[in-house]
Amino acid sequence: MKPINCIIEEVRSETPLIRTYRLDRNLNPAPGQYLMLWIRGVDEIPMSFSGQDTITVQSVGVATQAIFRMGAGSEVGLRGPLGNGFALKGNKILLIGGGVGTAPLAFLAEVAKKADISVTSLLGFRSRDDMIFQDRLEGLGETIITTDDGSYGIKGHASAGLKELNLFDYDQIYLCGPEMMMSDIISRTAEHAAKTQACINRYFKCAAGICGSCCLDPDGVRVCVEGPVLLADRLLDSEFGRYKRGPSGAKGPCRG
Ligand SMILES: Cc1cc2nc3c(=O)[nH]c(=O)nc-3n(C[C@H](O)[C@H](O)[C@H](O)COP(=O)(O)OP(=O)(O)OC[C@H]3O[C@@H](n4cnc5c(N)ncnc54)[C@H](O)[C@@H]3O)c2cc1C
Ligand code: FES
Repeated sequence: MKPINCIIEEVRSETPLIRTYRLDRNLNPAPGQYLMLWIRGVDEIPMSFSGQDTITVQSVGVATQAIFRMGAGSEVGLRGPLGNGFALKGNKILLIGGGVGTAPLAFLAEVAKKADISVTSLLGFRSRDDMIFQDRLEGLGETIITTDDGSYGIKGHASAGLKELNLFDYDQIYLCGPEMMMSDIISRTAEHAAKTQACINRYFKCAAGICGSCCLDPDGVRVCVEGPVLLADRLLDSEFGRYKRGPSGAKGPCRG
């Protein structure tokens, strides 16, 4: 798929390190799908949709810092929407998000609400200053917030909020966040793995199922085309939360 040209129409600051970019095209994505964003002369990187025509970017390195230097009117290339997205099921769902991983879940919550599905959210952030989309999600249903430093809500990681919930009440659980946070939640809630859909990250190069960069051991799932949303029971005995491959293809530790 050849990238199409696209213009950034609006930039919104969510926190000092997270911004939302509204694009001049509505590609009709499903929540959980992603696009490959081509910052010309820099890199092409994967980003989840945080709305029909928005992406929400955390500045972590060269490419994302280059996006932060762009404003309304800047041009980027994009390929997408790509990947499978979340399958919306049931009447009552729980969203569990961590950090910028809240972005695709906020989009999912809006689509679920329009379909008359009851939405509960459990969101984990480092501190009050890192919180995103609190208002967006609180307007859609019960929202529990945890912060690592206790500056807002329950003190601790997102898993500290699990004790407020009976997971048997939910038809489906949707998860997105840093890998170690997701791995922690999946291992604590293993009996619900068959109804937990996790949106995961791996190092994407082609995003077309060809290069093998994103494959997950042991069964070689190509996350870029068969994911990025995978059922948690497929992750329980995989490399997820143990190691991941970087740009060279070599295994490295999971961080975050
Ligand atoms: C399906 C998917 C959806 C994502 N959605 C979002 C999102 O909504 N918002 C957001 O802020 N980030 C998202 N990311 C992560 C984002 O792609 C990386 O933060 C970004 O590529 C970092 O690039 P960099 O040059 O700024 O940082 P670098 O310094 O190059 O890397 C920082 C971190 O990002 C990872 N990374 C770098 N390049 C890639 C790549 N091509 N594929 C995957 N990971 C990479 C590195 O492994 C490293 O852990 C998503 C990743 C995937 C796979
Ligand atoms: S990124 Fe190339 S196969 Fe997935």
